[in-house]
Amino acid sequence: MSSTIASILEETRIFEPQQNQHANIGSLDEYHTLRRCFSDDFDATWRDLAREHLDWRAPFTRVLNRERAPFFSWFEDGKLNLSENCLDRHIAAGSGDRTAIIWESEAGEVRRISYVELLADVCRAANAMRELGIESGDRVVIYMPMIPEAAIAMLACTRIGAIHSVVFGAFSANALRERIEDAEAKLVITADGGGRRGGVHALKPKVDDALSGGCHCIQHVLVVRHAGNEVGKTAGRDIDWHDALKVQPDSCEALTVDSEHPLFILYTSGSTGKPKGILHSTAGYLLWARLTMQWVFDFQPETDVFWCTADVGWITGHTYSVYGPLACGGTTLMYEGVPTYPDPGRLWKICAEHGVTVFYTAPTAIRALIKAGDEWPNQHDLSNLRVLGTVGEPINPEAWMWYHNVIGKGRCPIVDTWWQTETGGHMIAPLPFATSTTPGSATLPLPGIDAAIVDEQGKLVTDSGGLLVIRQPWPSMLRGIWNDDARYVDTYWKKFNNTFYFAGDGARCDDNGFFWIMGRVDDVLNVSGHRLGTMEIESALVSHDSVAEAAVVGRPDDIKGEAICAFVVLKAAWNEALVDALRAHVAKEIGAIAKPDDIRFADSLPKTRSGKIMRRLLRDIAAGRDITSDISTLEDQSVIEKLQRSGQG
Ligand code: WTA
Repeated sequence: MSSTIASILEETRIFEPQQNQHANIGSLDEYHTLRRCFSDDFDATWRDLAREHLDWRAPFTRVLNRERAPFFSWFEDGKLNLSENCLDRHIAAGSGDRTAIIWESEAGEVRRISYVELLADVCRAANAMRELGIESGDRVVIYMPMIPEAAIAMLACTRIGAIHSVVFGAFSANALRERIEDAEAKLVITADGGGRRGGVHALKPKVDDALSGGCHCIQHVLVVRHAGNEVGKTAGRDIDWHDALKVQPDSCEALTVDSEHPLFILYTSGSTGKPKGILHSTAGYLLWARLTMQWVFDFQPETDVFWCTADVGWITGHTYSVYGPLACGGTTLMYEGVPTYPDPGRLWKICAEHGVTVFYTAPTAIRALIKAGDEWPNQHDLSNLRVLGTVGEPINPEAWMWYHNVIGKGRCPIVDTWWQTETGGHMIAPLPFATSTTPGSATLPLPGIDAAIVDEQGKLVTDSGGLLVIRQPWPSMLRGIWNDDARYVDTYWKKFNNTFYFAGDGARCDDNGFFWIMGRVDDVLNVSGHRLGTMEIESALVSHDSVAEAAVVGRPDDIKGEAICAFVVLKAAWNEALVDALRAHVAKEIGAIAKPDDIRFADSLPKTRSGKIMRRLLRDIAAGRDITSDISTLEDQSVIEKLQRSGQG
């Protein structure tokens, strides 16, 4: 057990919720009442929430269809449009002048876009896409920096029923190509580049590179001019976003779609090499994005300024930078740049200048900023902050306490939110003015979410760690893996005979019923809150000419949570330049975020007699720990000593 987990499990500090008469859920009693509604009548409770919180073009008659389990459908035969729920609805209610998006660039430029303006841009973009032949159900890949056009492109897709697939800008051309081909996208929306660390991170050249090697499905590329870097133009294929939009009318009839109309595909890492396209659908996702904003962040659209620091390339950016806040009619902040540029006070300066009230980030960012020193936050007025959230990885108690004391000045509840790309929105999290909190625990499942901890046989465990499962479907659950039904069933459902959703995380419940998430139990790494598959990195390594075999494991890291450690067996002789060459190769294959922190060279990898790589053993070696795994099945015992030596020097 890592020292972090050990210290988390010994945590006993409890912080009682503050009184807040205006909170959306203001007491633990209210939370329990809502939970009871679900246990008394699950379907009716979801029905009432969906009717109350979404604007329907045609009402649904059926809440949950379990006939094709584990393929579930929600609110069947209901009809709606997502962009209408996020835009037109608020304008009709008189909030058209409210700021929908505040954007700040790294250089300090600020844009404020009202709901009326956002709708006009979304309509122009939707019309432009229609003119390019994009129809309902077509896939559109969005490869953008954190600029308002990213959100505009997403919403424009939903306006006409196109399915977006946002690819994180730090992914390489190869990774982009793989995703475009898997989704069989017709259109890419990108920008020349984005601002990063005072320079430009070029995106369009990576698109050109991706398309030059295949992607025959792509018909057009829409290019937002943003960073001003020189980019090439392929005649007939590439179209300037601004030119395309300016000739379009600023209204666009929203397409009425079914509740279950596919909304987006978001690729994420699993335990095998190929990333999987997680598919979400319209009504259920939108409902949960809105409800969790209200419950977990106590979001008040009239007065709050909400800032989720995640990039739109991740699920957190989808649900909490874009759809959640806009579904509620509130103000969301987008920042294009790195958190430490030009200095480690940047995030706190932005919070102060824009009066951010609810702030949501990853523990990795908090840990990095703790190192920079308290003087940075202390220079800025953080008195508007009222709720602080974390996501993506377990938060160690030291980071939690710093967030609570130095950023929140002891006033702001901390909501540690456990969820996944697959779950669409929060699953286990405190309600800021109802649940008591304790550093390191995501506390209680949200109303409607039936989370439990079971053993390998699916039996409930109460006094020890086990596997985290969800025992009932929920509206924002993934609907499948794009083009791979079998993998959906195998990954999430087969383990427990199609009855429980298997999350892939280990967890433990304490006497108060609080959940403590202990990390992945599969071959997925969590590096700085970014999810990466060990097999993906291994495939990238073995695709290098010099590599015969590779095994990748995580090792604990104070800042990133987990660092990437690769054990490599070479085909040819070792030379010093190989470390950099292999790191660069992984960056090219996947992206810089996947570069191994350590590369160790070995004559062979430790395997069982049946040929399986002994990963647990490698994890011990990578962490420099005593070997805890059973090595009696190791084929060649001398391997251990050689591997331990490979890390020295
Ligand atoms: C981990 C991110 C501990 C977990 C929203 C999960 C967490 C994976 C927490 C999903 C948390 C997320 N505490 N671990 N509060 N939140 N995780 O798909 O291992 O990028 O399975 O979604 O992140 O990562 P994903």
